[in-house]
Amino acid sequence: MKKLVGALAALGLMAVALTGCSAGGAGGGGGDKVITVGFAQTGSESGWRAANTQSMKEAFSAKNGFKLIFNAADNKPENQIAAVHSFINQGVDAIVIAAVVTTGWDDVLKEAKDAKIPVILEDRTIDADSSLYASWIGDDFKKEGETAGSWAATTVGSTPTNMVVLEGTTGSAPAIDRAKGFSSSIGGTSITTLDSQTGNFTRADGKTVMEGFLQKYGKKINLLFAQNDDMGLGALDAIKSAGLTPGKDIKIVSIDGTKDGLTALSNGEFNYVVECNPLLGDKVASVVKDVIAGKKVEKAYTAKDLAFDQAAAKEALPTRKY
Ligand code: AHR
Repeated sequence: MKKLVGALAALGLMAVALTGCSAGGAGGGGGDKVITVGFAQTGSESGWRAANTQSMKEAFSAKNGFKLIFNAADNKPENQIAAVHSFINQGVDAIVIAAVVTTGWDDVLKEAKDAKIPVILEDRTIDADSSLYASWIGDDFKKEGETAGSWAATTVGSTPTNMVVLEGTTGSAPAIDRAKGFSSSIGGTSITTLDSQTGNFTRADGKTVMEGFLQKYGKKINLLFAQNDDMGLGALDAIKSAGLTPGKDIKIVSIDGTKDGLTALSNGEFNYVVECNPLLGDKVASVVKDVIAGKKVEKAYTAKDLAFDQAAAKEALPTRKY
């Protein structure tokens, strides 16, 4: 098993390919006219998000022929809708959205369509009709949840195990889809969900919610599914303060694969980490250019994600980009 995961990790380090990709990155200017893009980012809740923002800012650079108008919505859906309205009013050439939540998009996307401004979704999916956006570039959250759940099923699923879950932002695509994927993988095992609450994808809330779980259930908890690394890292403090050993008394599986998450795995405090690739900027920028040039693009481009056990984390860390 370890060897397989290690081999997959090594392969994946060489190829952060996105399925459905057309050739070429975002570089090279691509014509004389500067392309003005409004990017509605969720906020700055996690290490993953910081890497994603950096990737987007680098790809949508002046050197690559862009003027980027960046907005971080502090994870408030109303702020994000207001930012998209403002992009429409400014007459940008394209709008890119990493949606805080999946719902509430129809009206503002219809406005963008009426104004002939193409919308490209980055990272997160939404519930709106697919005619309202040109393309989506991101990770398969359901599959990430399934992979995390399969690890739990294989590792602890045959003995009675009490799990708590730290969920991401309520109503966000990753929180919804990772939960679905994980549940489907642990069906029929001896894993019982004691409790599941949002930690908003942040370290601070991960810690607070885990403290509450520990007060309520104490040593009954054997397993934590943290829907991202940051919440899992916050939970480590709570677990240690309760006199328990993370990775041993409470096994931890999380999603993202940030340097901090893989470091916790390599130290034995996490037990398994599923990757969610945040380095989407080049592909998003190249799709934006194609859409503006009237070229045909795919409706969806899915990044390839890896999974790490302790040995794979140790191998990956020296060259990890985020
Ligand atoms: O949408 C991706 C998720 O959002 C990442 O897992 C999380 O860290 C982020 O905030």
